[in-house]
Amino acid sequence: MEPIVYQEMAADEETAVCNLVADVFNEYVAPDYDQEGIDEFFRFADPDAMKERMLGGGFVLVAKRTGKLVGMLEFFPPDCVAMLFVTVHHQGIAKGLLARAIRKAQVRNPGLSKLIVHSSPYAESIYEKMGFRKTGGIQHENGIDFFPMELICKTLNTN
Ligand SMILES: CC(C)(COP(=O)(O)OP(=O)(O)OC[C@H]1O[C@@H](n2cnc3c(N)ncnc32)[C@H](O)[C@@H]1OP(=O)(O)O)[C@@H](O)C(=O)NCCC(=O)NCCS
Repeated sequence: MEPIVYQEMAADEETAVCNLVADVFNEYVAPDYDQEGIDEFFRFADPDAMKERMLGGGFVLVAKRTGKLVGMLEFFPPDCVAMLFVTVHHQGIAKGLLARAIRKAQVRNPGLSKLIVHSSPYAESIYEKMGFRKTGGIQHENGIDFFPMELICKTLNTN
């Protein structure tokens, strides 16, 4: 199988990345949401909204196989995994994105000691396998159900 290439999202790639997010969301996450939650999600997973978030210091990493987008992770400072979506599952792509995002976030902020995520109900057990722990019960905000979770990271040794 062709290797996965991980890179930072290019300046003009927001629409392609949001299209990937929409495809995966519609298949795996939307069935658990009501219309209010779906509308709220797509206000967030929107190319212009994403561009604006990048100005606030966030970044998006993408995973590609033979040049085709197969995954994405958006990090929003100071410590938030804002989105993590993968098209071909169980191949370690989410783990690959997460490991690279932690490294990149810690280069920017060596004191970063944890990541937080609002996990979809679908992804909760998958985040647990990646080392996250729930910090509370299921929450419901603006039609979106999520589990607050965190991952304790080793702080980067800058010596
Ligand atoms: C959550 C998601 C990003 C995981 O992507 P992935 O590339 O398949 O994950 P990985 O292959 O890196 O697997 C990570 C771990 O989860 C496990 N895993 C992956 N999919 C799983 C599933 N459906 N059920 C149970 N475990 C699963 C893997 O085995 C691995 O654990 P291991 O290290 O103990 O073997 C992907 O399922 C997805 O896009 N889901 C829909 C969107 C979503 O809910 N995103 C989260 C929004 S907050």
